[in-house]
Amino acid sequence: MKTAKIGLLGFGNVGGGTYKILTDNKELIEKRIGVSPEVVKILQRNKNKKRFVDADEKLLTEDPDEILNNDEIDIVVEMLGGIEPATSFMLQAMENGKHVISANKAAIAANYDKLVNTAKKNNVEFLFEASVAGGIPVLTAITNALAANNYVEVMGILNGTTNYILTKMTEEGLPYDEVLKDAQAKGFAEADPTADVEGIDAANKLSILMALCFDKYVAPTDIPTTGITKISANDIKAADEAGKKIKLIGKASIENGEVTYSVQPVELDKTHPLAGVSNEFNAVYITGDMVGELMFYGRGAGPLPTGSAVCGDILSIMKRKF
Ligand SMILES: NC(=O)c1ccc[n+]([C@@H]2O[C@H](COP(=O)([O-])OP(=O)(O)OC[C@H]3O[C@@H](n4cnc5c(N)ncnc54)[C@H](OP(=O)(O)O)[C@@H]3O)[C@@H](O)[C@H]2O)c1
Repeated sequence: MKTAKIGLLGFGNVGGGTYKILTDNKELIEKRIGVSPEVVKILQRNKNKKRFVDADEKLLTEDPDEILNNDEIDIVVEMLGGIEPATSFMLQAMENGKHVISANKAAIAANYDKLVNTAKKNNVEFLFEASVAGGIPVLTAITNALAANNYVEVMGILNGTTNYILTKMTEEGLPYDEVLKDAQAKGFAEADPTADVEGIDAANKLSILMALCFDKYVAPTDIPTTGITKISANDIKAADEAGKKIKLIGKASIENGEVTYSVQPVELDKTHPLAGVSNEFNAVYITGDMVGELMFYGRGAGPLPTGSAVCGDILSIMKRKF
């Protein structure tokens, strides 16, 4: 059986989840795809840190060149976070003829054209399913199963932390600050929640969705973005009394060739399918000119849901390129 040699950049939540799936479901993958996935190197920073999953010591390295310049490696999976050095590492891997997969919406949204063009120039694959809505395979649907449609609108609950906070504010009538503290204690919000609560993370994801749906790249910093920090318990109560729910919505639509886009809190009718998406869950609601309306729902984060999406990309490359 052929073997796909894989290098993982990052061994945190997503890196750990991806490694666990490739290890636990190795036989299943071999049976389904007819190619064996083999992780040959894993980049991390701090050797002494407790990991989601253990890996053989000899796989671990603190030197990115052991992956990026390693002739043996076919597929590089970037799960570091942050724009740099992640972007430079991905470009270097592509220049060295390696297929690249990434979960990193910040890096992809900031450097979309450069990454896509460098992959094309080097005749390698660049896939990033996990970067939008974690475990939900919405990018694969947009670029494959739905590709015969003109997209009319794409909108979604693209950030689990803010959806968790808004859900708790709605269900328990509590103020934003109190719910944020509780979310941080339970691990649903980062110690520094700025990227989530200010809508920056959702804007990164909307930028990627727009590039794929409308072939229009808009830098996330150019997307009009309002977060949830100014939503009060009174706003939520007033919306409830009017038959509405407040959700942080990333939305882009096209009319007469003009794309409009924003990330902002929206009062959705309680009967709208997105209004029923609660807690840390994500959902993407798409309208295509042929298929009509569709909703994709599931877990937008977590080592295994996100690792599942990363592995889907790995298997897609193994199936077509080996
Ligand atoms: N967490 C999720 O559920 C989720 C969902 C969808 C997408 N994502 C995206 O996936 C990416 C990874 O997220 P995560 O939650 O897995 O992050 P994480 O737990 O912080 O893991 C990041 C990993 O990268 C390593 N790392 C970071 N910078 C490095 C550098 N300069 N050199 C070497 N190693 C470096 C870290 O090493 P040390 O641990 O040794 O510091 C760690 O192993 C991010 O782009 C995130 O936006 C995450």
